[in-house]
Amino acid sequence: MYPTGALRIHELTPEERAVHATLKQECIPQHVAIIMDGNGRWAGHRSLKRFLGHQQGANAVQLVTETASRIGLPWLTLYAFSLENNLRRPRAEVNFLMRLLKTYLESNLGRMMDNNVRMRYIGRTHELPPEVQDKMRWAEDATANNTGTTLTLALNYGGRSEIVDAFRSLATEMKITHTSPDRITEEDIHRHLYTAHMPDPDLMVRTSGEMRISNFLLWQVAYTEIFVTNRLWPDFRGIHMLEAIEDFQHRERRYGGLNDGTESDDVQSLPVKMVAGR
Ligand code: FPP
Repeated sequence: MYPTGALRIHELTPEERAVHATLKQECIPQHVAIIMDGNGRWAGHRSLKRFLGHQQGANAVQLVTETASRIGLPWLTLYAFSLENNLRRPRAEVNFLMRLLKTYLESNLGRMMDNNVRMRYIGRTHELPPEVQDKMRWAEDATANNTGTTLTLALNYGGRSEIVDAFRSLATEMKITHTSPDRITEEDIHRHLYTAHMPDPDLMVRTSGEMRISNFLLWQVAYTEIFVTNRLWPDFRGIHMLEAIEDFQHRERRYGGLNDGTESDDVQSLPVKMVAGR
């Protein structure tokens, strides 16, 4: 159904290999999404400027991506820059993040190729500075034929605005095809999301301890397992993603159903009573 990258377990660090050995290969998630948070705090704890936290964060992006490619994870999606970051952060920080993204793409393309990583983006990327868009397209084109992990960077991304964009595009299609609104299905909405070409995330990781989704992949996380770690993003490494996957493999995913093998009660003949209580 979806491409699975070739395994390169021998390239993991010994510590990563030890965690990987505990994983059930057949239950490796198809898609891991990460809310990378805590760059500013990482810098603050060291009395450093925030931009140094972002710089270390970019290094963590590359290391985690390479581990993902070694374990054959098909899809890795990282929340790199939200619409809210763009609107609410000081211009100097936004400009720095844009320059960092360009430098990151330029200096890591070789490693992406070595790791067979394909790069994609989601978000209102047409609103980013033109020179950043050029560099993004350059990296996407150069890696287009790679067959391992697809690294998707969410840039100028918001979950609600993604849904707005999907509705706009669906409404246009419906006008052309003269389709009545009561024929809209979940599948129609899925087809118009930025993520139409990928499976929904099985696992969403958030660093820095915050228990929020922060407008990331709102439609897609309906049945996603969530893993929150107190670790700050610049300290997050491949081994921590493997630990999150290990935790994920102990979850029971029920998608609203019953997975425990219990016989369903014969409820047809039972009277329905309200139970009084406080
Ligand atoms: C949150 O830290 C992180 C971001 C603003 C987005 C993630 C950005 C990076 C990892 C760096 C660049 C990425 C690429 C792909 C080159 P924060 O500033 O919100 O941290 P805080 O909550 O501790 O202040």
